Order: sequence, then structure tokens, then C-alpha cells
Amino acid sequence: MFRTIRDIQFKGKRVLIRVDFNVPLDKALDITDDTRIQAAVPTLKYIIAQGGRLIVMSHLGRPKGTADPKFSLKPTVKRLGELLQKTIAFASDCIGEAAMKMARALKDGDVLLLENLRFHAEEEKNDPSFARALASLGEIFVSDAFGTAHRAHASTAGIADTLPAYAGFLMEKEITYLSKVTQSPDRPMVAVMGGAKVSDKILVIENLLNKVDSLLIGGGMAFTFLKANGFKIGKSLCEEDKITLAKKVMEKAKALGKLIVLPVDVVTATGIKEGVASKTVVINAIPDNEMGLDIGPKTVSAFKTELLKAKTVLWNGPMGVFEMKPFDAGTRAMAEILTTLKATTVVGGGDSVAAIEQMGAAEKVTHVSTGGGACLEFLEGKALPGIEIFSRDIKNMVGGA
Ligand code: 3PG
Repeated sequence: MFRTIRDIQFKGKRVLIRVDFNVPLDKALDITDDTRIQAAVPTLKYIIAQGGRLIVMSHLGRPKGTADPKFSLKPTVKRLGELLQKTIAFASDCIGEAAMKMARALKDGDVLLLENLRFHAEEEKNDPSFARALASLGEIFVSDAFGTAHRAHASTAGIADTLPAYAGFLMEKEITYLSKVTQSPDRPMVAVMGGAKVSDKILVIENLLNKVDSLLIGGGMAFTFLKANGFKIGKSLCEEDKITLAKKVMEKAKALGKLIVLPVDVVTATGIKEGVASKTVVINAIPDNEMGLDIGPKTVSAFKTELLKAKTVLWNGPMGVFEMKPFDAGTRAMAEILTTLKATTVVGGGDSVAAIEQMGAAEKVTHVSTGGGACLEFLEGKALPGIEIFSRDIKNMVGGA
């Protein structure tokens, strides 16, 4: 059980909320994708509607402890104001007298955004006095920053030593769905894993092997598994030092009675180049001078057969070089299949999220995680410092229940 914002009243209270507004900016410092800002809006609106006084804090980029204007949160003020239909006050430093004065001046329903937390090196060091300085601005701490929950920083974890912590709606949704797929999935459970490297996903695979009924492996990482099975893979991506590991995973799966489905055909080319000639070949017929860059139609259909049986599906990682035609077809097909399933469908991890969004299918799956590294660590079965805070004992804290 973990505490959420449903467990507390906000009227008249200064609510310090950690969000993840780490959005991409272009050279003119315009936001190119506001998904993360939008994702925090339901929580912010809920607290405003209750008459809470919001003090919003976030990081942006990795300014490494210096106040670099390139990483200012100022560009997010306008977008946040539009989304909340409110004037947003902005404090040019996240701690100190000016921020305190602005926080104290807030009326019910007002919103103050603080400048980038990472302009202070103490944030990433989880410095206790910096955490206390932040905590002194508010009376209640809410976190909706799932994307940063794997970081033990002052604003994500340290602050909860002083203030009782409550999960916002986004955080709650992420924890609920990612827990469901990793701990108590409705069976059959199918995981579709992709992406370039086995080494990036091996901990997720090992953690999920006990939970899944079948594991479908595509993307660059599939070739290490195929080579481990003795297939010729041409110039395809292969982590030679992970072949033994891949073999062990397949042996373990077999011992557990789990099915691992690998590609039976792939789209190949001589290199990753726009307009390069490509062809579809069965596995073991990849020419020596070519590399597999996407799964082929027979593989899509084999994956589909498993997916149609599923009650729970987790998808993590693209099936090929989806940023470039014609190597996007496998990933596109997976996204399409997912949207037609009656199962609980959860998409996690940076690239698969980008893929599903690019294909306009994000609205049609049950949950798309906003976390990159955080999502991966959750799926690996790690306890995240920015989540553990919601189940801490708060009895002896000021404002604690
Ligand atoms: C992310 O983009 O994954 C989060 O905002 C965390 O950012 P970080 O990797 O710089 O801590």
C-alpha cells in the first residue's frame, strides 16, 4: 500500500510537488514535446480545485550544478499556464528568500514554478540541508515525477525525510500498471522485448522470466539469441560476450516451461541508410555482407499468434530501426496489434514509447509509461527511491497522518 493524493486534504496548504518537466527543447528553447507536462496536469488541477497552493519543482537536462540558462525551466511556464489556464509565478532560484517570499504569498489555487533544481549540485547529491531548504517552502510533499523516481535526489527522496510524501495520479498510474505486469499479471502474460542490446534488457528479461508465459524477442538484441542457437546472422548486431548469457536465459526459460519466440525472418540490407536496397529473408539466409534491421512478416505473424492469447502484454523496445523506412514495418505492426487486443497492454521504455507515439497508437493501449530509466529499473524489479517514500511511516512527522 502506498499513500496518494486521495488520502489528504489540500485546502489552504502549501503543496510542494515534484514533477518531471524534463522536456526536449530546440535551439530556440521552444518545447518540442510537452507529453511530460501534460502528464502532470490532472494532479495539478486536482490540487488547485481543492484550494491547495502549488509550488512546482522539476529538473531539466543535466546542468551539473550551475545556473546555465540553456537548462532554465522558464520555457515551461507558458505551456503550463496554457494547460492550467492560469498565470504561473516563476522563482528564479528554487531555494532562498525570494522563493520563500513567493511561496508564502500564494493564495488558494495559485501556482508557483521554481527554477531548475539541478542548478544546485546539492540536488543530485541528495544533500540533507538542501532537501530541508526545499521542504521549508511547503507543508505537504507530492511527487508525480515517475520519470525521475530511480534517482535518489534531494527533491525526489531526501525531502521525504522532512515532509510526508504522497503520490500524484501519474505516479499512482505508473506504479499500479507496472506492478501489475511485474507482480500479478492476468495470465497468459506475454512480454515483447526489443531494442539494440541484450545487455540493456537482460535484467528485465531475468526478472520477467518467472512471470511471463511467453517472451517474444525482436530488435537488434534478437541476433545475439539467434547466434546462440547456431544461426548465421551476417553483419547483424551481436554482443559476442553475451552469447553464453543468451544461452543460459533460453535454458532457464525451457526449464521453467516458458516459451521464447525468436524471429523466423528478417528484413536485411547492407547498412542503415535511407533508401538502401532491402529484402526479407528467412533466418540463416542472411547474406554475409548484410545485417538484419527489422523483423519480417512471418515473425510478425508468429508474435501475433502469441499476443492474441494474452490477457496481459508488456512491450519494451522497438522491433527494428523504426526511425527509418522500410525498417519501421515490424515495430509499426506490433503497435497496431497491441491496439486491437482486449488484454491489459503496457508500453514501457523510451524507444517503444517514441515508436507507439509516432504511430499515433498511444491512446489505444492501457498504459504508456512516461519513464525511460525509471521504467526499466522498475521492470528489473528494483525498489525505486522516489517510490519507496510513499509507504514510509509518517506518524511522527509534522503534517503526518
Ligand atoms: C529522464 O529523462 O529519464 C528523467 O527526467 C531523468 O533524467 P536524468 O537521467 O537526467 O536523471
